[in-house]
Amino acid sequence: MSETQRSGRRRGFTTRQLHDGAGAGGWPNARALPIYASAGFTFADFDEAEHRFGPEADGYSYSRVGNPTVDAVERRIAALEGGTDAILLGSGQAAVSVALLSLLGTGDHLVISPSIYEGSRGLFTENFARLGIETTEVVEPLDAASWAASFRPNTRAVFVESIPNPRNDLTDLRLVADVAHAHGIPLVVDNTFATPYLLRPIEHGADIVVHSASKFLSGHGTVLGGVIVDGGVFDWDANTDRYPHLLESAPGRTRFGGFARNSVAMRLGPTPSPFNAFLLDQGIETLSLRVQRQSDNALALATWLEGRPEVSSVDYSGLPGNAYHRLAETYLPHGQGAVFSFTLRGGRAAARTVIDAVDLFTRMTNLGDVRSLIIHPTSTTHVQRTPEQLAAAGITDGLIRVSVGIEDVDDLIDDLGQAFARLEREQPNAHVAGAEPTPLSLEEVAA
Ligand SMILES: Cc1ncc(COP(=O)(O)O)c(C=O)c1O
Repeated sequence: MSETQRSGRRRGFTTRQLHDGAGAGGWPNARALPIYASAGFTFADFDEAEHRFGPEADGYSYSRVGNPTVDAVERRIAALEGGTDAILLGSGQAAVSVALLSLLGTGDHLVISPSIYEGSRGLFTENFARLGIETTEVVEPLDAASWAASFRPNTRAVFVESIPNPRNDLTDLRLVADVAHAHGIPLVVDNTFATPYLLRPIEHGADIVVHSASKFLSGHGTVLGGVIVDGGVFDWDANTDRYPHLLESAPGRTRFGGFARNSVAMRLGPTPSPFNAFLLDQGIETLSLRVQRQSDNALALATWLEGRPEVSSVDYSGLPGNAYHRLAETYLPHGQGAVFSFTLRGGRAAARTVIDAVDLFTRMTNLGDVRSLIIHPTSTTHVQRTPEQLAAAGITDGLIRVSVGIEDVDDLIDDLGQAFARLEREQPNAHVAGAEPTPLSLEEVAA
């Protein structure tokens, strides 16, 4: 389906999330995406079988290699991110693994931002380390010189997140892309939290985009998925000394996507199920509506939290006083996403009370659901980090992370309000900086 109207005008994002990529599969008369729940596909005769295994293969043979339902979703995501190709995988971790293992091998070096998802950090610093791939964390991510100082002759990839979690310490994508390109290295951006509705990293210099599609892209907390988008811009042919393995794949600027699909994803095998691809497609059809509403709700909630005496800080880049607001104006002008954290003055005890008191927020570790979710990182998602690492990242025991849903925002504020009222009852000095919680008397506990 064309990206433009007959008049020549380019269609808007909401129109394209419904129509881009649709129809090219050739399924007869179906308006919604059919689920091709078939492990393999028939060959009409000897010649067709031979063709499907040849270099010019354009049909389907086996679902780990290609599936019509999966293909349709890949086309749609590639179009929405502004890339030339997309590869759908079974999870976000699979997408990060396949993308980076398509660039890195034993003896290579990876440069990362200090603020990335814990699962990605562990993958790089533990699993990749065992394969002989070293990782360096940049010290000052807003400083080009700090990025440049992290490069080595064997550096082969740079990895960042567009909106890091939980503190919304946004990445200056153009700054990082310029340093990476000056070294002949591609920039890989995890765009899970922004989604292509709020930010398209390829427009800001990224070469490869990855997502956990389990979050906002699917949007309903029903499915795991991941995607890699090839920007089709990086000049691999000018850098073949660094990426000689890519010479095996089709020539030109799509060398990366071809290699990632045919050599890494197909062989490692983290294939998405066609049913999950269908659910993901359903989610994408309402992406802009959900993410706009969630961002608007998040801003309203963050603004309310900022005025609360129990709260010492709110890490949301949409707030005018936030240290990353200037970057948000550049990269996220239409909304700053739905995930942010706030810190309670009363520390862990206050966090425990608030988390246990919420009624509408769901206590869980997923993100990007249409429902609002809440979690306490230092006792859950970040439990493997040392106290020094947590302190360096500004993640304290009083910090709570929320993923804001599409509910009526007044109900969300009301829910946190009643949780804060309980906090006030149980720990009357919870609004005093550095205060230890006041233990409850037995009578109060009974009440
Ligand atoms: C930013 C980010 N990237 C990647 C992942 C991994 O995705 P998945 O859980 O789909 O494997 C997550 C999961 O939380 C994430 O938050």
